[in-house]
Amino acid sequence: MKPVKVGVLGLGTVGGGTVNVLKRNAAEIARRAGREIVVTRASTRDLERSRICDTQGIALTADPYEIVNDPEIEIVVELIGGETIAKDLVLKAIENGKHVVTANKALIALHGNEIFAKASGKGVMVAFEAAVAGGIPIIKAIREGLSGNQIEWVAGIINGTGNFILTEMRDKGRDFADVLAEAQALGYAEADPTFDVEGIDAAHKLTILASIAFGIPLQFDKVYTEGITQITRDDVDYADTLGYRIKHLGIARKTSEGIELRVHPTLIPARRLIANVDGVMNAVLVKGDAVGPTLYYGAGAGAEPTASSVVADVIDVVRALTSDPENRVPHLAFQPNALADIPM
Ligand code: HSE
Repeated sequence: MKPVKVGVLGLGTVGGGTVNVLKRNAAEIARRAGREIVVTRASTRDLERSRICDTQGIALTADPYEIVNDPEIEIVVELIGGETIAKDLVLKAIENGKHVVTANKALIALHGNEIFAKASGKGVMVAFEAAVAGGIPIIKAIREGLSGNQIEWVAGIINGTGNFILTEMRDKGRDFADVLAEAQALGYAEADPTFDVEGIDAAHKLTILASIAFGIPLQFDKVYTEGITQITRDDVDYADTLGYRIKHLGIARKTSEGIELRVHPTLIPARRLIANVDGVMNAVLVKGDAVGPTLYYGAGAGAEPTASSVVADVIDVVRALTSDPENRVPHLAFQPNALADIPM
């Protein structure tokens, strides 16, 4: 069988990681996917940055539209981020019959309803595991592993940059601004880091998690959102003295009145597992009616952890390409279920 040709939009931290993982693990990936997967084209605004990954054999362009319009490309991997050009490119790719894999939480949280409707109409797949909690396969866990449960609540540390800042403030007494600068240098932070520290990034991710867990449409504007910018070193120290840790959590909970969605700093007893999730690590607790509480832990940001989820989605798409199209779209695209009328 011919290799599947993939085009990558954006060769920043995650784009570079994705190209590297696809190359390094090509043999295992081909075996698991049932077909060889090759990145043939990639777009980048910055050729210098593309040196962080092995672009040998990849045709580089500054114009991402060349990739979404290339008839040879079957899967477009969108790693540009943000909502403007990324949205236009994703819609164009879908219109051209291409399957899309994205790590773009803002795009999915704010425009997912429109994107999934368009993808359904075209019979193409849109996969977005990397949009939530970096390398933790949390979407797969809720959708597949817990599919027999009614989900009661989801709560987690879902912004690596914020958790890195809180951890360094507590463990090393460092200043907020100094740690944020390091998170930016390490490639953890968003292009606009206020998204990390004001809770917006976590709210995007919570919007997506809630839609998967409760089968509701994506409703970012319903999330109560508070960041960590008001937290001082004194707050962190007092919490410590009292036997607590301050963690920034995203919480989605089914109540008798509807689904509660909130993102804010929380005091957690130090003996709890989630209180001891430090640095850039993320952790998500999911309570199902059958299974009880479950906990998922791993790197929430960074090049290869996020690439791990992107590549898993690419493999899923390639596997699904060999299955009956009638059965494959619901597997990856968002499908509201019977709970869609739960008031928010
Ligand atoms: N800025 C995000 C974070 C990147 O720190 O969690 C991963 O989504």
